[in-house]
Amino acid sequence: MAAYVARAMAEARERTFIMVKPDGVQRGLVGKIIKRFESKGFKLVALKFTWPSEELLKKHYADLATKPFFPGLVKYMSSGPVVPMVWEGLNVVKTGRVMLGATNPADSAPGTIRGDLCIQVGRNIIHGSDSVESAKKEIGLWFTEKEVINWKPANEGWVYED
Ligand code: RTP
Ligand code: MG
Repeated sequence: MAAYVARAMAEARERTFIMVKPDGVQRGLVGKIIKRFESKGFKLVALKFTWPSEELLKKHYADLATKPFFPGLVKYMSSGPVVPMVWEGLNVVKTGRVMLGATNPADSAPGTIRGDLCIQVGRNIIHGSDSVESAKKEIGLWFTEKEVINWKPANEGWVYED
């Protein structure tokens, strides 16, 4: 492979912010959701279990502040513990969104996390960054630099060609 292609591929091994929402935690779906990302071959680089404040959630969903569902969204998201995570891999932002499925589970394809595990948009169990830019913002909101770990999985050579 040409060096510039290999370099572009290495650069695309980006990071995304994924979070099991309070309903996903209450319903005991944390392990199942983590398993999907692990089995796919993505690399876990940060994870915590935390009960988030309304203040943090307002920052996290700042882009939606003018939406009519915003107060309900903040209330739902701060109603219990969540599991924020950072996953790394080739095109993980876009592929992560595909794995989550459409925002409204009524439209999420079977085989996706939302398509298989939930019913209503206001209880859609999981969050995923919608762009590399928002991933960077969200990772910075939920994790310190030290909490995001650089490491090389033993199976990396069997997940990627190079
Ligand atoms: P998320 O940020 O949680 O991954 O979801 P998303 O990108 O697929 O959708 P987004 O437009 O960012 O909406 C964020 C969350 O707000 C709730 N929502 N409720 N009642 C409604 O019409 C409505 N629309 C959105 C959902 O929990 C959605 O995931
Ligand atoms: Mg979103």
